[in-house]
Amino acid sequence: MKRNSELIFFSKWFASPLRVASITPSSTPLARAMASALPVGDGTVVELGGGTGPITHALLEAGVRSDQLVVIERDAQFCNHLVRRFPGVVVRHGDALDLVTLMEDLAVNTPVRAVVSGLPLLSMSSAAQEQLLQQALRLTGGTGPLIQFSYGLASPLRKRVVQRLGLVDRCVAQVWRNVPPAKVWTYACLTPYPASRQAQGGGVSP
Ligand SMILES: C[S@@+](CC[C@H](N)C(=O)[O-])C[C@H]1O[C@@H](n2cnc3c(N)ncnc32)[C@H](O)[C@@H]1O
Repeated sequence: MKRNSELIFFSKWFASPLRVASITPSSTPLARAMASALPVGDGTVVELGGGTGPITHALLEAGVRSDQLVVIERDAQFCNHLVRRFPGVVVRHGDALDLVTLMEDLAVNTPVRAVVSGLPLLSMSSAAQEQLLQQALRLTGGTGPLIQFSYGLASPLRKRVVQRLGLVDRCVAQVWRNVPPAKVWTYACLTPYPASRQAQGGGVSP
């Protein structure tokens, strides 16, 4: 399964490097570091950009029930792979920027426990980042967290987006045993992000 995942991943990266943004799937140490950042508790976990599923696997291994895990992935072949690999997990084919719409017809109790993202945030405009974060905050009841990995040195969410949304960004893990080495970031609001502003959409120029 691992070899198969790597081959699919590499062929997707080869066809579309910017959309996939990594040459190989996340390593087990990185996937486990992401799962370790989950807040204690119960409830649905939403994963964005599941790829071939290393983080999905780590979330299940960390005790998230398969019927409490929703994975959103834009690539159809990755979706088919995820469905076959993780029976019981809800896999939605679509753009994470339509997060709330994609979740609408699922009988998911909100707030969700966390949104866990493998999306290439660094290649998104500020407006797209803000649109994504607003929806993630809406699902989590206005506080978060969004858990995100990044290969960069600094936070992948732009400072002005962090400030506009009143978020606290924290680097919670540095994973050297990943190629390339990666950091795990969490974004959360200390006070719930106002529902009125959650409904307004973006506002930051790209
Ligand atoms: C860096 S890969 C991470 C894959 C996997 N989570 C891992 O850690 O190996 C990014 C993934 O996000 C998906 N993706 C990129 N943009 C997306 C979007 N706007 N909505 C949903 N999925 C997206 C890509 O197809 C790819 O599977």
